[in-house]
Amino acid sequence: MSISPTLGVCYYPEHWPEEWWDKDAARMAEVGIKYVRIGEFAWSRLEPTPGNLQLDWMIRSMDVLGKHGLKVIVGTPTATPPRWMVDKHPDMLAVDARGQRKGFGSRRHYDFSHLPYRDESARITQILADALSDHPALGGWQTDNEYGCHGTTYSYSPAALEGFRKWLAIRYGSIEALNQAWGNVFWSMEYNRFDQIELPNLLITDPNPIHDLDFRRYSSDQVSAFNKVQYDILKAKRSDLPVIHNFMSRYTEFDHYDLAETLDVASWDSYPIGHLAVSDETEEMKRQYMRQGDPDNAAFHHDLYRTVGHGRWWVMEQQPGPVNWAKFNPDPLPGMARLWAWEAFAHGAEVVSYFRWRQAPFAQEQMHAGLLRPDSEPAPAYGEASQVAQELKLTGLDGPVGKARVALVFDYDSEWAWEVQPQSQGFKHGAHVRDIYAAFRKHGVDIDILSPKARSFAGYDIVAIPALFAWTDELREAVASFEGHLLIGPRSGSKTNNFSIPARLGPDLSPNLLDARVTRVDSIPAHVSVTVKGGGSTRLWREKVETRGEVVMEDNEGVPVLISQGKLFYLTASGDRALMQRIADYLIAEADLAILSLPAGVRARSRGGFRIYVNYSASTATLSPAADESGYVIGEMEVPAAGVTVAKLATAG
Ligand code: GAL
Repeated sequence: MSISPTLGVCYYPEHWPEEWWDKDAARMAEVGIKYVRIGEFAWSRLEPTPGNLQLDWMIRSMDVLGKHGLKVIVGTPTATPPRWMVDKHPDMLAVDARGQRKGFGSRRHYDFSHLPYRDESARITQILADALSDHPALGGWQTDNEYGCHGTTYSYSPAALEGFRKWLAIRYGSIEALNQAWGNVFWSMEYNRFDQIELPNLLITDPNPIHDLDFRRYSSDQVSAFNKVQYDILKAKRSDLPVIHNFMSRYTEFDHYDLAETLDVASWDSYPIGHLAVSDETEEMKRQYMRQGDPDNAAFHHDLYRTVGHGRWWVMEQQPGPVNWAKFNPDPLPGMARLWAWEAFAHGAEVVSYFRWRQAPFAQEQMHAGLLRPDSEPAPAYGEASQVAQELKLTGLDGPVGKARVALVFDYDSEWAWEVQPQSQGFKHGAHVRDIYAAFRKHGVDIDILSPKARSFAGYDIVAIPALFAWTDELREAVASFEGHLLIGPRSGSKTNNFSIPARLGPDLSPNLLDARVTRVDSIPAHVSVTVKGGGSTRLWREKVETRGEVVMEDNEGVPVLISQGKLFYLTASGDRALMQRIADYLIAEADLAILSLPAGVRARSRGGFRIYVNYSASTATLSPAADESGYVIGEMEVPAAGVTVAKLATAG
């Protein structure tokens, strides 16, 4: 049962005098907020000493919020175990790759492999489920907070070592099978027993890539297992309430599709300006969008988490003003807190929840803006949030987003594999996928993200499988039966699941689909590029291919860049933005896809009979009305900087 678009906010009742709660709740309701997330860091107040449970204050805060018609999402507090927990389980602290134990005094100081801590997490979750499940204001749960944040997915601890060995024994069955699968004959790395295998840190030089990849797979499974424990407890108590987790931007250390097998709703924390500031995007992009954020990054994650959440997703934390965690933390352009919310709703968000209600005057995040200033006066985003709430009412925007025309496969194994074996420094699976995403989005084309478990591409006009590590059976099936246009590569299918080169070489497709074999990889430094005839350049990654396919584009050294066989296109290189744009444009033309003509900096997405335009540029843009639109319900043709225009579609989209 999905929720009609509405606003939320993150609130920490334990940070404020109890006398303030009622007024805070009344003001939230006045803004038009419906959901309030609380509790995710409150363990030291819920259980100040072992077994001394103090849940009354939380129940009273829920009473107050509920009295004002607000629904509460309670976070399990397991991202911040209190100090006494570390005294009780000193070895629950994770160990970094250099072998150093991490310390107490910030957050996320636990090791996913530490089973006694997993039991503690189950215990506090059960306590909360028992005490709060029947509270009338309870609207759902959030498990933990941002799994993996601050580099916490991996731990090189004795607990991780023990878990990894067991995991390998189950996966491979016998040490002979592991030696065979890993190719351990190389460098005499063969093992006699599972308990001889170490973690892939503190070695002389590179570990065997499959050793590293399997450790990442193992670590990913621990995060999912940790979540499952909480999910099962919460669902056993109230199966009707959604269990949610808040994921992050460009964070790929565990497989989110797997973890979401035990979630009802996916959510993510969107800080567009902070994310751009800490990204490896170009200086030009950082300057141009310093006060807006990358115009395609939030949208990409909206589309990703829609799939991760099986169609249901929220923004659990939305940037409201300057953050505190980048080197520089610019003030957003006036209007951005409204624009980001509208964009999320356009991509199907149920709830957009601002982080946080009031700026904290103390501790690590005292420089992080909220909807209120520390003196309780409204900060700029307060008014913008109220405006969004009113506009949602006015338009009645609702319903699921329709199936897109274009889809991209995004896969976590590929993220890990190309980090383990970049071969060309700077070549990244995620960056390559996002470049293709951005190239299609320039034309206002709606995009779905697919997992590597997608069995069918039916209904799409164009599907891209960029930089895929290894074929899954499902993807092979989907490729074989697809009737639309398919873009594959570079690097796709160049390894087996065990990180070896496949017998028929990449892209490892049957010749009747694509008669091509990558015979040589030419990896070149980022500052060198090879121009492509007709425009754009290849960079970082180039393949030489033996093929009977048709050469559609080639570079100025005569190396084929885009090859086709029927409607299947193989891309042999990574390219600059100009090349990726040409490729997207070429496929759009081949597939005869309808596109929009968008001014620079403007993006668009359709949902439920509306098309939402957002202007990420710092100046006014003029829209060209599309033939399927029947006028504007919010804004107009002239969209100011950071502005939003909502068009009504003549036919529901
Ligand atoms: C998120 C986190 C919040 C807060 C916020 C600040 O990563 O979930 O607790 O730290 O960032 O931007």
